Amino acid sequence: MSRNRRNFLKTVGSISLIGGCKSAEDAPEAFFKDPKPFVQHGTANLESKLENQESFLTPVEEFFVRNNDVSLDIPVDDYRLTVEGTAIETPLTLSYEDLRSMPSRTVFAYLECGGNQRAFFGSLLGKVATGTQWKRGAVGMAEWTGVPLIEVLQAAGIQESAEAVQLIGMDQGAPEGGFRRPLPVSKAMDPDTLLVLRMNGVPLPKDHGAPVRALVPGWVGSSSVKWLGRIEVSDTQIWSRNNTTSYVLIGEDYPPEGQARGQVANKQSLKSTLALPWPAVLRNGVHRIYGYAYGPDGPIAQVRWSDDGGSTWTDAKLLEPRMRYGWTRFELDWNATPGQHTIITSAVDSLGTEQPETIPHNEKGYLFNMRLPHPIQVVS
Ligand code: MTE
Repeated sequence: MSRNRRNFLKTVGSISLIGGCKSAEDAPEAFFKDPKPFVQHGTANLESKLENQESFLTPVEEFFVRNNDVSLDIPVDDYRLTVEGTAIETPLTLSYEDLRSMPSRTVFAYLECGGNQRAFFGSLLGKVATGTQWKRGAVGMAEWTGVPLIEVLQAAGIQESAEAVQLIGMDQGAPEGGFRRPLPVSKAMDPDTLLVLRMNGVPLPKDHGAPVRALVPGWVGSSSVKWLGRIEVSDTQIWSRNNTTSYVLIGEDYPPEGQARGQVANKQSLKSTLALPWPAVLRNGVHRIYGYAYGPDGPIAQVRWSDDGGSTWTDAKLLEPRMRYGWTRFELDWNATPGQHTIITSAVDSLGTEQPETIPHNEKGYLFNMRLPHPIQVVS
């Protein structure tokens, strides 16, 4: 345990919180994992370096972290999940063991922050968006195992009248006294929406929401609430910070929806990116370059690339496995000649949708997904 971590460890009930101090000079670590492999943003956010990833699944040690407060340390024996609300017949309190004894399912899914690639609103489109300036690494791919949320909702007697299911975290220092996100009942009842107990075959790590987090595959990462403590099921729509002012696309192109200031960011957007540093420096000669393509609507069907500004395109080779919610790795062979170049990639999903050439601005910079012109300097 580092000095910072010891100094700032504090306890709420039997739950330990790391942190509690937000001033820059004595900023505590807001997470348990070693931050060295990451680009760190502020005290609470760790961005992955995609160029260092070599396998289909992102190793836990390299998986990005996005905290609104600090990571919690919740002993499994103390863990309780309550399920309640106006559309619940039998309110429940479940222990970790209760959840372990329920039916289990494994889903392979990428998890991505809704603000991933936000920095490119400024650097590529000339209009900075507010929020953490993530480049391409607020995304990771994992194997998630847990109880389908529908099992818990049915055990609690969810009523026909149910409209919304709100997932509430135990991180009391986060906005609203616990990070939270309402879901429509249809997404909450999707068998792939999980209460996760294991990540990549090991018990869920603390920084990723141990002992239990939600996984809402294909949706913005903020839906996948960590350190899940309470589920509220309501027979009316639920509005909270994360579907009214945050995780909402606000701007001229996004008229308000209900109490939201714009269009609520639900599904993620289709993206592709090269597994190279940004900018990259390569020696001249032929290089095999890898990349990642992913979107919320099924496996990737095609990735094409161009090194002449989009005049001509070549198909990249898609690598297996290709899964419903998984990212697809691709490779291309490129003959690098000395000078400054860009390689643009563009993904097409199973519905035939392709990444756009450009996108409208939104104030908080969510769902950036225009085709990225990757800058590459080739030296001899
Ligand atoms: N859950 C809680 N309780 N607190 C949080 O701050 N951050 C959300 C989501 N779940 C958050 C949370 C956001 S914005 C993202 S992108 C994902 O967790 C990040 O998950 P990870 O840190 O496991 O990568």
